[in-house]
Amino acid sequence: MIKIQNLHHRYPDGTYALRGIDLAISKGEFLLICGSNGSGKTTLLRIMSGLLKPSDGSISINGHNPVNNSRKVRQIVGMVFQDPDSQIVGETVREDVAFGPENLELPLKEINERVDWAIEKMGLQGLSEKPCYLLSGGEKRRLAIAGVMAMKPEVILFDEPFSHLDYPGIQEVLRYMIQLHQEGHTLVVTTHDVEKVICHVDRTAILQNGEIKASGSPESLVKELSRFGVRPPCYVLLGGEKISWLE
Ligand SMILES: Nc1ncnc2c1ncn2[C@@H]1O[C@H](COP(=O)(O)OP(=O)(O)OP(=O)(O)O)[C@@H](O)[C@H]1O
Ligand SMILES: [Mg+2]
Repeated sequence: MIKIQNLHHRYPDGTYALRGIDLAISKGEFLLICGSNGSGKTTLLRIMSGLLKPSDGSISINGHNPVNNSRKVRQIVGMVFQDPDSQIVGETVREDVAFGPENLELPLKEINERVDWAIEKMGLQGLSEKPCYLLSGGEKRRLAIAGVMAMKPEVILFDEPFSHLDYPGIQEVLRYMIQLHQEGHTLVVTTHDVEKVICHVDRTAILQNGEIKASGSPESLVKELSRFGVRPPCYVLLGGEKISWLE
């Protein structure tokens, strides 16, 4: 589904954010990319979504190159940004969720159905006419996710999706991710706080200084995390069985 080979990215100020990334993500896979602050997670997701052109290397999404076919790639890939404020474009919650499906030029009836569905899924029903700038941090996060859901992309990239969310909010997003995974969507989630999601992913990759240092089953990597600046889940630190945030 996603194939990345020898990908490098250097920002205009000279910061070398990604150094030789090789990564293949299968259709329907649920991948966790973890790494400490500044390790390159957001840069990698922005390149996967077609928002950022890599300095070097190749990437293809379902056979399409995001560099020269970003329109097609944006129909396949949806990204929930790390900072919800940078994703909100509508004046009210409802207008914001409608923005994506409107851009897909869907029939009005389908736009309305998708907007209602996404608003309900993210528990925003009571807020649908509220101006977005008045929302709390967690509500903005739910809104950003609802906006991506309404576009029903095949691949969804979640950049630090649990920040700003309370306990029920984290559980809701996690349940939603599991549901998307069961429905066959390809999911990539990045975080430095692996505790919340690691029990549910198929594979984990560890990013450090712009390089993938390890990749494999979560079970095989949980003990390695601290070497790369990522805190292992509590159950590992306490030597117990794995515990999901849904329990
Ligand atoms: N627009 C930019 N211009 C210059 N440097 C940048 C830019 N965006 C990111 N960087 C740098 O690239 C590196 C990787 O940043 P990135 O945002 O990808 O990391 P991250 O793993 O997502 O970090 P965090 O956990 O803090 O979100 C950092 O050193 C950062 O300072
Ligand atoms: Mg980031």
